[in-house]
Amino acid sequence: MDWAGGGACPGDSAARGAGLHFPDSPAAGASELGMLRLARTLCEKSVKTSRLSRPPCRPTALMSTLLIQHPQYAWLQELGLREENDGVYNGNWRGGGEVITTYCPANNEPIARIRQASMEDYEETIKEAKEAWKMWAEIPAPKRGEIVRKIGDALRRKIRVLGKLVSLEMGKILVEGIGEVQEYVDICDYAAGLSRMIGGPVLPSERPGHALIEQWNPLGLVGIITAFNFPVAVFGWNNAISLITGNVCIWKGAPTTSLVSIAVTKIVAKVLEDNQLPGAICSLTCGGADIGTAMAKDTRVNLLSFTGSTQVGKQVALMVQERFGKSLLELGGNNAIIAFEDADLSLVLPSALFAAVGTAGQRCTSVRRLFLHESIHEEVVQRLKGAYSQIRVGNPWDPNILYGPLHTKQAVNMFVRAVEEAKKEGGTVVYGGKVMDHPGNYVEPTIVTGLAHDAPIVHTETFAPILYIFKFKNEQEVFAWNNEVKQGLSSSIFTKDLGRIFRWLGPKGSDCGIVNVNIPTSGAEIGGAFGGEKHTGGGRESGSDAWKQYMRRSTCTINYSRDLPLAQGIKFE
Ligand code: UN1
Repeated sequence: MDWAGGGACPGDSAARGAGLHFPDSPAAGASELGMLRLARTLCEKSVKTSRLSRPPCRPTALMSTLLIQHPQYAWLQELGLREENDGVYNGNWRGGGEVITTYCPANNEPIARIRQASMEDYEETIKEAKEAWKMWAEIPAPKRGEIVRKIGDALRRKIRVLGKLVSLEMGKILVEGIGEVQEYVDICDYAAGLSRMIGGPVLPSERPGHALIEQWNPLGLVGIITAFNFPVAVFGWNNAISLITGNVCIWKGAPTTSLVSIAVTKIVAKVLEDNQLPGAICSLTCGGADIGTAMAKDTRVNLLSFTGSTQVGKQVALMVQERFGKSLLELGGNNAIIAFEDADLSLVLPSALFAAVGTAGQRCTSVRRLFLHESIHEEVVQRLKGAYSQIRVGNPWDPNILYGPLHTKQAVNMFVRAVEEAKKEGGTVVYGGKVMDHPGNYVEPTIVTGLAHDAPIVHTETFAPILYIFKFKNEQEVFAWNNEVKQGLSSSIFTKDLGRIFRWLGPKGSDCGIVNVNIPTSGAEIGGAFGGEKHTGGGRESGSDAWKQYMRRSTCTINYSRDLPLAQGIKFE
């Protein structure tokens, strides 16, 4: 059994009844197991795992006690967490705002409490951060890189326990939780190297005795608002690159993953404090929409990096634009995988499985639409159903589990509404479709066929494990279908045709920010620029030249002659 506790949990039989198999199921065939292993390898990011303690199956009377009070969660103390935690850091820890509790999505039991930021806390934190910037900006970039390298090392030391917390509070499986921390570690390494490389060109001036150069300077204070689904990695990308480019940060994570925000900030704060630096260089203000709105409207926040829904992102963008501030938006996706007639199905199947079911469909890069050439449609649908039936469902922190709960009850409701809507619009649920009768926010991974490629529900991003599968005839129509949604984040084709690959990468191919071949839509590496077009918001984070978004560019023309020639040959005498 993979559910909470020693097997007496009420949901087990219901879960089986819903068509999901458990590791002890005899149904697993050898080839599908291989497929799952590959999907698992795709998830793992080379991190070794070991078994974690499971929550007890406790009577309702005890349900109101916090998980952190139980001995099997003593490991939370290794992260500096307590029953009630300050949610504000600006060199000192505090929290004068609303007290909230976060819950474990696998059983909806309370983990611990957080004292969020009041508006006074926010004000003070902004002032501290601005003050800290004055000295941080003076530190040479490679020395800032050295601090970021130390942050990476500190994260390495806590990678397992922090990954466990991500799993407990967000609900993603353990390897994905650890994989997220790995992304932060990796971007720290990347940023440390980058700290010796950022800079602008010296360009040829058309005037004699003149130098034309580009100078890059920090923006100042970077506000970072992150979503529940990547509570570590997305902060990490922004934080590491902000720091080496000479900015200080103020972070507001999703309220439902506040303990992760606090645990990460404690690790970062210790590095700053050990190096006699002001803690406000990496400030934290846990809070809700009030703090988010304050950040968006605050002229002292020079760049606001926002990850979340398109709907909220649009409001944020308008508030920031209203004051001519800068924003970096990572919003929704509605990502497609296209498998052509020549596709290698041994790549297509685990890719679709990982992209649709990984993180229970709660990545912005999760695949929502699977377009199959009509010649392989039937076979792929059947084999995918077989693979779905063997997904190991259970407590996300159990290393054998591939599929955990949705993050919240609201997400479960969204899932239910989307499945209903899909049926109304003519879709057939060929796998899953139901909420699992078990404590926690578990829904069946779901496959829907038979919808029109442009049905309204297909063009709506539902942050849940629902995969819509379609049949297509030719390249031209399917490339158009890929691009017809409002979002433009990630996309993949599976083919061996070289011409088709380059057409896909070219001007009439995918209009997304991430354009893949023979790999899934999700699981991007930190070395590339991450982000998407259209309603995805246009921002780029992480690798490549995304650092430019965190700096301002000055074009500098320096006259080192004794004459004053004007550009464009103009004489003004
Ligand atoms: C997100 O879902 O917001 O490419 C980010 C991926 C991850 C990042 C996803 N590296 O799936």
